[in-house]
Amino acid sequence: MVKTVVIVGAGFTGLPTAHKLLIYTAPKVTEKLKVILVSPNSHFYWNLAAVRGVIPGAIPDEQLFFPIADAFSRYPSENFEFVLGKADRLVLENNTVLVAVNDGSTREIVFDQLVIASGSTIRGDLPFKPLGTHENTVNALHLLQKEILNAASITIAGAGATGVETAGEIAAAYGNKKEITLICAGDKVLHTSDVLPSVSQTVENDLKKLGVKAIYNTKVETSTKESSGQTKLVLSSGESLTTDLYLPLFGIQLNTGWLPPNILDEAGNVQLDSNMRVKGATNVWGIGDVGNLEPKQVTSTDAQIIDLAENLDCVLTGRESQVKEHKIADKKMIFITLGKSYATGQISWWKVWGWLVAYIKGRKIFVDSAPSYVSGKELRHKPM
Ligand SMILES: Cc1cc2nc3c(=O)[nH]c(=O)nc-3n(C[C@H](O)[C@H](O)[C@H](O)COP(=O)(O)OP(=O)(O)OC[C@H]3O[C@@H](n4cnc5c(N)ncnc54)[C@H](O)[C@@H]3O)c2cc1C
Ligand SMILES: *[C@@H]1O[C@H](CO)[C@@H](O)[C@H](O)[C@H]1NC(C)=O
Repeated sequence: MVKTVVIVGAGFTGLPTAHKLLIYTAPKVTEKLKVILVSPNSHFYWNLAAVRGVIPGAIPDEQLFFPIADAFSRYPSENFEFVLGKADRLVLENNTVLVAVNDGSTREIVFDQLVIASGSTIRGDLPFKPLGTHENTVNALHLLQKEILNAASITIAGAGATGVETAGEIAAAYGNKKEITLICAGDKVLHTSDVLPSVSQTVENDLKKLGVKAIYNTKVETSTKESSGQTKLVLSSGESLTTDLYLPLFGIQLNTGWLPPNILDEAGNVQLDSNMRVKGATNVWGIGDVGNLEPKQVTSTDAQIIDLAENLDCVLTGRESQVKEHKIADKKMIFITLGKSYATGQISWWKVWGWLVAYIKGRKIFVDSAPSYVSGKELRHKPM
């Protein structure tokens, strides 16, 4: 009997996990292995560079989006199938995923092993992550580029990595030709306990040099689109502000609506055991942003991909007893870039030289490494 592994989500974790199984595990499975990759977007989105990609003309579409089918064309069709659709429902009782296929049909896929890799999106449904189909995502990105081009004032809410990087990129591109405002909920940017105060301070200084106006200890309470096309924001301070373009970039939304609620924790994360298996299940696994194990960043995904692929290899080749724990990364790592010249970062409790971060990340935001990542030649920092 063929063994079927269904992977839901072809983003930063699902896609390389499929490559790993096809390269290393498929040749060892005597009954034959079939990997079915399910994703509503036909193209992989190198969304790490979206913070610069939203600026018109900054990065061509071909350096942000890569056809998924092409990346898997070298595998025999008996081992691999790409289903262009969205998982609608997981039925644990009969090991079935119900998929709403993009062509309008529905499909029931029965699995032996399931990998949940459906990731997350930005709250305001902005194209910093895939938004349903590829066409949808690209259209939304082009529209946003046009809005950024035409806006004289842009207000960004959210001072996490995506918010500060987007503010920095726009300011670096347009200088004082546009009025850029960043609304921060806390009293500093990158307001989480594990970010060094000196790193937050450097980002604040750099944003100031770039001309970004930051407002602290403030939240956006309501946003209303006016007939002029501008957006009126009412702030928690009681003040209000009118802006040509409003970008809510705070908080992420996990793509877990298709899952039974009893496998999620209170915050909506998929509850995983230390082997990356869904708690209480025997043949369902989770990886990346949906999981409850690690920060929602690609800095921890190489190790997750390697360990999950190895555990699946054990299970699929009759070595269940060799399934092992995924070691949680103990190092904080964050690189922040604001255009090509300003950057800073942190590794563990060390602040990294700005010029080094600008060199490693700021020049291209890693778009040059995307083709080999998508085609399964390399992980982010490890060999495939
Ligand atoms: C603008 C931005 C910049 C970032 N920059 C950095 C950075 O510099 N460094 C860093 O470490 N991290 C960064 N991150 C975080 C990083 O992008 C995520 O941690 C990473 O994408 C998580 O990978 P994933 O595979 O879990 O999910 P994703 O990459 O989100 O992929 C999930 C995939 O699943 C698909 N999907 C969703 N729902 C379904 C469904 N029901 N059925 C089928 N498919 C589905 C989606 O369309 C998507 O293709 C950034 C995030 C953003 C938004
Ligand atoms: C699995 O169960 C669901 C819900 O009861 C049902 O809709 C689906 O048809 C079943 N699938 C299979 C393959 O048994």
